[in-house]
Amino acid sequence: MYKVIIKEILDQGQLNQNYIVQGWVRNKRVSKSISFITITDGTCFRELQVVINNSSDFDSILKDLNTGASVSVHGRLVQSEGSGQKVELEAQQVDLICQSHPDEYPIQPKKHNLEFLRKNAHLRMKTRTFGSVFRIRHGLSFAIHQFFNNKNFFYINTPIITSSDAEGAGEMFKVSNFDFKSIPLDDSGNVDYTKDFFSKESNLTVSGQLEAELAAMGLSRVYTFGPTFRAENSNTSRHLSEFWMVEPEVAFNKLADNVELAKDLLKFSCNYIYNNFHEDLEFLSQRKHNEEKNLKKELRSNTTLINSIENIINNDFVNIKYNDAFNILKNSKKNKKKKFQFLISDWGADLQSEHEKYLVEKEFKSPVIITDYPKKIKAFYMKLNDDNKTVAAMDVLFPGIGEIIGGSQREERLDVLRSRMLDLSISEKELWWYLDTRKFGSVPHSGFGLGFERLVQFVTGMTNIRDVIPFPRYPNHLEF
Ligand code: 4AD
Ligand code: MG
Repeated sequence: MYKVIIKEILDQGQLNQNYIVQGWVRNKRVSKSISFITITDGTCFRELQVVINNSSDFDSILKDLNTGASVSVHGRLVQSEGSGQKVELEAQQVDLICQSHPDEYPIQPKKHNLEFLRKNAHLRMKTRTFGSVFRIRHGLSFAIHQFFNNKNFFYINTPIITSSDAEGAGEMFKVSNFDFKSIPLDDSGNVDYTKDFFSKESNLTVSGQLEAELAAMGLSRVYTFGPTFRAENSNTSRHLSEFWMVEPEVAFNKLADNVELAKDLLKFSCNYIYNNFHEDLEFLSQRKHNEEKNLKKELRSNTTLINSIENIINNDFVNIKYNDAFNILKNSKKNKKKKFQFLISDWGADLQSEHEKYLVEKEFKSPVIITDYPKKIKAFYMKLNDDNKTVAAMDVLFPGIGEIIGGSQREERLDVLRSRMLDLSISEKELWWYLDTRKFGSVPHSGFGLGFERLVQFVTGMTNIRDVIPFPRYPNHLEF
C-alpha cells in the first residue's frame, strides 16, 4: 500500500492499485447510499474525489468530515464515472485525523475577499487562490536559480545585518541590542553606538549589491536572492517593508549586456511557469477576469493573464533612453491637460509611477526598459556617462506593475567614484572596501535588482503585493 500525495496519484496513479492519501476536506456530498468527499493537499491545483459506497457504514465519520477537517483515506484508484475528474479513490477505510470546528472555521467553501484572507493569513494557504499563488512563487524561485546556474553564475549570500546604506536613501531598520530604556549617549548627547552590539550603527540591509560587486570581482558572475528591508512608509500595493530581491552582478558586462540579461531572466522565468504551472495559471487567469468584471472599464486589463505572460515570452521589450521618455511624457496630452499628479516640465524630473504606467500601458503597450537617467535622481555607484549629466542606469517597467527591475553599469573609475561620493556626502571611510575594488584590477561591471514579489505579482495577476508573500510586513502590520 503506497502513501502518495495527490499530485502523484493524479499524475501517475495506476488504476486498481490501492493507495493511502491524506489531505483536507474541501467538500462533501452525502446521501444514503453513496457519498463523495473532495480532498486537497496543496501539492497541485486539482483535488481528489473520494467515493464512499455504502455510506451508512461510514455514518459516524461522515458527520465529522466538514470542510477543513484532516483525513486519511485507504482506497482503490478507479476510473471516475462522474464528469470533472478522470479517476477517483474508492474508499475502503476513512480515518478522521482532526476535525475542523465547523462553527469557527473561517475558510468556508465560498468566495472570500482578499482583505479577509489577509487577516487570516495563517489559514489562507488552504484556499485555491493562495495555493496557486504560492506554488507559482516556488516555481519562479526555482526557475531563477536554474536560469543562473545554466549561465554559470554562483549564488552568493550577502549579509542581512549591515552598516552600509547601499542605496543612500536612508530608509533603514536599525539593529541593536541596546536596552531601549537607557540608551547610552556620548558627551554631545548623541547615541553612543560604540557601546552597541557591533560597536557601530547597524541596520537591516536594503540591498546586497555592494557586497555582490565584491564577489563579482573574484567570481565574475554572481547573484544574490535574499530578503531586503525598507523602512519607507509606503502603503501601496507595490511596496513591502520586507521583500526578496534577486541581484545578479557581472564582471566585464556593460549596460547593453545588463539589458539583455534582464530580458532573458524575465522571459525564462515566465516561460518556466507557462510550461510547468498551466493549471494554476488557467485558474488565476479566470479569477482575474472575474474580479475585473466588477471594475470600471478603464481599470480592466486589456489582455488576460495568460496572454500577458505570452506577450513577455514572445515579444521584444521597448528600449528607450530617459531623454526620449521625458519628451514623450512632456508632450503627451495627459501632461498638457495637467492630468498627471506630478507634471513633467523640467529635464531631470524623476519618473513617478503614473508616468511609468503611461509609458507602458498607453504609449507602448509593452514592457519598457529606460536607460541613461539623470545622475541627480540615481545612486552614487552608477557609471557616469560622457555627457556628465546622465548615468548608465536601467529600469525595467512592466504592465500593471511599474518598476520591476532597477540596475546599472557600475562606476569602475576610482577618481570618478570618489568625486560622486564627495558630492553626495558618502563617507569614504565607511566604504573603504568598496573603493578598494576600484584600485585592484577594477573592471567594467553591471548588475540589477529584480523585486521578486513584483515578478510574482505579474505572473499570478494578484493586484496587491501583500497577497504574494506568505506573511507580509508593511507599516503597522506585523502579525504572524
Ligand atoms: O531599484 P532598487 O531600489 O535597486 C536596488 O536596490 C539596487 N541596489 C539593485 C541592484 O542594482 N543590484 O530595487 C530593485 C527592485 C525594484 O525595481 C523593485 O522591483 C523592488 O526591488 N523593490 C521593492 N519591492 C517590494 N517592496 C519594496 N519596498 C521595494 N523596493 C524596491
Ligand atoms: Mg529603483
